[in-house]
Amino acid sequence: MLNFSPICQQVRGLFFYALAEALFTTIRSCFFTASLLLSDSKLMKCECTSSAFVAGDVAALEFLWPGPAPRGGQFFLLKPQRTGVFLGRPISAAGWKPKNAAKPLSGGIVSFLVLRRGRGSRELMDMRPGEEAELLGPLGNTWAQMDSNADTSPIALVSGGVGIAPLLLYACELGKRPFDFYAGFRTGSFGLEKIKPRSLTIATEDGSQGLKGRIPDFFTPSGYRAVFACGPEPMLKIVGDACIASEIPCYVSLEKHMACGVGACLGCTVKITGGNRLCCKDGPIFNVEEVCFDH
Ligand SMILES: Cc1cc2nc3c(=O)[nH]c(=O)nc-3n(C[C@H](O)[C@H](O)[C@H](O)COP(=O)(O)OP(=O)(O)OC[C@H]3O[C@@H](n4cnc5c(N)ncnc54)[C@H](O)[C@@H]3O)c2cc1C
Ligand code: FES
Repeated sequence: MLNFSPICQQVRGLFFYALAEALFTTIRSCFFTASLLLSDSKLMKCECTSSAFVAGDVAALEFLWPGPAPRGGQFFLLKPQRTGVFLGRPISAAGWKPKNAAKPLSGGIVSFLVLRRGRGSRELMDMRPGEEAELLGPLGNTWAQMDSNADTSPIALVSGGVGIAPLLLYACELGKRPFDFYAGFRTGSFGLEKIKPRSLTIATEDGSQGLKGRIPDFFTPSGYRAVFACGPEPMLKIVGDACIASEIPCYVSLEKHMACGVGACLGCTVKITGGNRLCCKDGPIFNVEEVCFDH
């Protein structure tokens, strides 16, 4: 029998560890590449065409995107070319302007609203026109998929803070369909210029605009065929509970930390009543009745 010295055993252990990690990384990147090839998503270097502050800690960014048009609810992983962060950050598409009106489904300008949180979002907000970022997308499911029985009865869109972004794009897709928009902010409002709701309710926590308080205080689901909401989890839970009590279907967009964005790393698990789902691939939009909130 071979008798290895402790140093040999350590070297052997390190070798097997490195081998296992290399194997795992290779399998993961194969899975990542396969997922990308099987979906409509693209990974591309894109030019930033506009960057401007729209509120104290929120910036609006626009990029030239030659790939497929995003639908309301979908997101991209964004990573500036010059960056100190390893992973792209998931940011919802807030707007879409096709370059050629005759071909609205590909090639145009995609816009985002970015709230300053940590280093990744700060780097995005610091981007200037002409600089490039890597964009991977469009990723995830859409509000329209949840709204399959579309008819003329009104729906409600309810947002908290920068959670307004994916609902703005959906509001622009609704055309003549009646919808009411409930938007909550900490202070001041942003992003509402391009939408035409039947009614608009704005609430700010400091009372600087609209009603003073939090948006769930001014929202009741009765009379709506469905409710679509995005914002902080405690807000989603209050809105969701009210909808469940009134037996109105409600769909919420959830936020989780993400790495790959395409279902390859299993890093964005969402607990639902039937087990676990991936926020990036199965979501980010879920039926609120299924979601197990942390709070
Ligand atoms: C599907 C999806 C869509 C999103 N859309 C937008 C959007 O349109 N605009 C926007 O500004 N942000 C959006 N986010 C959130 C955004 O991805 C995070 O704010 C961003 O990753 C933070 O990165 P950072 O490096 O700036 O902060 P970090 O340094 O990573 O974190 C700073 C702080 O923010 C918290 N945080 C970081 N990421 C998240 C997260 N995903 N959820 C909750 N808390 C987090 C951290 O715990 C920490 O306390 C979205 C997230 C998801 C999953
Ligand atoms: S981010 Fe990798 S599985 Fe969702």
